[in-house]
Amino acid sequence: MTQSKYIKEIAKYGLENDQDRLLHALNELIDHSKKTRKTNFALQLQSLLKDSIRQQSSTGLAIHGSKKHISQEEDREINEFILEKLTSDYSFDNLVCTDNIKEELDYFVQEHRRIEILQEFNLPVSNKLLFHGPSGCGKTLAAYVLAGELNKLMIVINLGAIVSSKLGETSKNLSKIFKRAATEDCIIFLDEFDSLGKVRDFSQDHGEMKRVVNTILQLFDYLPQDNIIIAATNHADMIDTALMRRFDLQVNLELPDETHIKEIINKTLSNGIFEFDNKRNLSKIIKACQGLSYYTIQKSLITTIKRSLLSITADQKSKKPKIDTTLWISLIEKEQA
Ligand SMILES: Nc1ncnc2c1ncn2[C@@H]1O[C@H](COP(=O)(O)OP(=O)(O)OP(=O)(O)O)[C@@H](O)[C@H]1O
Ligand SMILES: [Mg+2]
Repeated sequence: MTQSKYIKEIAKYGLENDQDRLLHALNELIDHSKKTRKTNFALQLQSLLKDSIRQQSSTGLAIHGSKKHISQEEDREINEFILEKLTSDYSFDNLVCTDNIKEELDYFVQEHRRIEILQEFNLPVSNKLLFHGPSGCGKTLAAYVLAGELNKLMIVINLGAIVSSKLGETSKNLSKIFKRAATEDCIIFLDEFDSLGKVRDFSQDHGEMKRVVNTILQLFDYLPQDNIIIAATNHADMIDTALMRRFDLQVNLELPDETHIKEIINKTLSNGIFEFDNKRNLSKIIKACQGLSYYTIQKSLITTIKRSLLSITADQKSKKPKIDTTLWISLIEKEQA
C-alpha cells in the first residue's frame, strides 16, 4: 500500500472515531515508513503514538491532583534535564576509527538488530557502552552513528544540570529520567559522564556520591534489554571503578595516526570540489597533524578552504578551487603551538 492510502485510512477511522482501526492503520504506516527508509517520520509518528497512549492512560477522572496533572508536572521537571531528543542519519561511513573498534561497534549493532535470536536462547544483550578518549575524537559522533545505524531515538541527558541543580537530589532525578526513558524504545546518551564525579566535590553530604553510584548501578541492572545506554567521557580515570565494570563495552577513541589523518582529510574532501595547490606538501601536512584531534584537523582544513576561496580573484573563478597548502600548514602549526 502507498503512504497516501494509509493516510486516507487514518483520516477515515479518525473521523469515524474507530480507535482500534485507527491505531492499526497508524502502526502500519509506521512500519511502512521504516521499510521505505523514512526513519525520521516513522520515529516522530511512533513518539506521537506513545505520548497519546501515555496521556490516555492517565486521563481517567478529572479530579484535582489527577494523574494527568502529576505526569505533566514531572515531564516539565524531566525536560529540564534533557538536552535534546534526536534521530540521526549518521552511519559507520561517517566515523574514522580502527578496524578493531569498527568491528566491536558493528557487533553491538548486530546484537540489537537481531535481538530476538539472543533472547530466544536467553543470552544477555550488550546494551551499556562507554566511549572514552580525548576531546574531538568522535565520542559524540559515534553515539550519533549508533543511533543512525539502529534507527533509534536518542535522548541526550544533561548530566551537568542533574548533578549541579539540587545537590542531594541527584539520585532521585536520575531515577526519574531512567524510568521515563525506559518507556521509549531509545538510546539514552549520557554525555560528559564524568560530571557525576563532581557530586563528590560539591556535596557536603559524604553519602551522596555513594547513593548516586548505587542508583546508577541499580538503574543499569533494571534497564530493559532493548534500551541502550551510551556514556561518554574524556576522563575515564575519574569514573568509579564499580561503575566502569558495569559497561558491556568500553571503547577508547584515540587521536588519529597517519592513516586516520589521511582518512579524515579524504572524508572531508569527499565531494571532490576542491583540490590541493601542491600535493607534495601533503606528507608534511600529515606529519604536522600528529597529536591533533580529528576535530582540529577538520576545522583547520575547512578554515583553509574558506580562506583560499576568499582569496580567489575574478579571473581565476572558472577553475576548480585550490586549497592553499602553505596556509594550511601555518594554521596547523598554530594549533600545535
Ligand atoms: N573519529 C572521527 N571520525 C570522523 N570525524 C570525526 C571524528 N572525531 C571527530 N570528528 C569530527 O569532529 C567533530 C566533533 O567530534 P565529537 O563531538 O564527536 O568529539 P568528542 O570526542 O565528543 O569531543 P568532546 O570530548 O569535546 O565532547 C565531529 O562532528 C566530526 O566532524
Ligand atoms: Mg562529545
